[in-house]
Amino acid sequence: MDEGMSYGEAIRKSSASITRFPLIPVKGVPLRNNIAENWDSIWTFRPDPSDILIATYPKAGTTWAQEIIDLLLHNGDAEACKRAPTAVRSPFLETCSPPATISGVERLKKMDPPRMIKTHLPIQLVPPAFWENKCKTIYVARNAKDNLVSYYYFDCMNQAQPEPGPWEGYVHKFMRGELAWGSWYDHVKGYWTEKEKRNILYIFYEDMKQNPRREIERIMRYLDLSVSDEVISRIVELTSFKNMKENPMANYSHVPTSFFDNSVCSFMRKGEVGDWTNHFTPEQSKMFDEDYEKQMKDVNIPFKTLI
Ligand code: A3P
Repeated sequence: MDEGMSYGEAIRKSSASITRFPLIPVKGVPLRNNIAENWDSIWTFRPDPSDILIATYPKAGTTWAQEIIDLLLHNGDAEACKRAPTAVRSPFLETCSPPATISGVERLKKMDPPRMIKTHLPIQLVPPAFWENKCKTIYVARNAKDNLVSYYYFDCMNQAQPEPGPWEGYVHKFMRGELAWGSWYDHVKGYWTEKEKRNILYIFYEDMKQNPRREIERIMRYLDLSVSDEVISRIVELTSFKNMKENPMANYSHVPTSFFDNSVCSFMRKGEVGDWTNHFTPEQSKMFDEDYEKQMKDVNIPFKTLI
């Protein structure tokens, strides 16, 4: 693995020169500069029709979905799903080295399909071969305010992300779509609008929290898999926040603190719905809601817990 090094060692090495990457627009979407500089290799990536795409705006529940899908593909075998860290089992399409050990595209090329491919790209930036090959695509959306809070903490702790700056300004940057991977509003709307045409399974973080069994069964049916009720129960248990937080192959604890600064928070931070109420002032919440109504007026996505 990773030229003979363990993944832990490899990531320590690749992140030794970590900097907070500036953002450069790719087709109008701000991306970390080394993603923008390697854009051709990402855009021309050709998946296999059997590959599964897991798409999210950053911090919407990607890792959770990746773990559920890996367990479904392995009939709930916990040990099989501890074969490697999430980032190795389910490569991040557009990531580059550094901070990754090798780029997502290089990693994917070394793996046999079917592969679980993670992306944060908005739908218009997903390489067209995913749609030509009719790859199964699972999109996880999370309510805007909780997504924002989670992203704020992540940008504070992740030394590869641009500086978040103070909270108040960060809220405005989110509303203006200036964070890495661009506008949350455009992201959730883009996949929502295309979901029938492109056969995308669109799920909500809040539904996964409220009824994980039901959502895991939806994913299972969408992927044309069939596992027993007992296995579903096991997957519910194995993918609880508590269990994933303690699972070294799912909690990103192998990432060195020079990259993920755990003194700010851990990757598995809180895993709750409604944490935004601990961060938004009533004035910020009102301003955010008014802007939200404007930005979302053209599409009726059933987010349940915004206000
Ligand atoms: P918080 O920062 O609100 O805790 P991503 O994987 O897209 O980066 O998303 C990370 C967010 O999902 C974090 O949110 C993390 O704690 C949460 N998360 C990860 N695994 C989870 C699980 N099993 N149950 C609930 N939330 C989970």
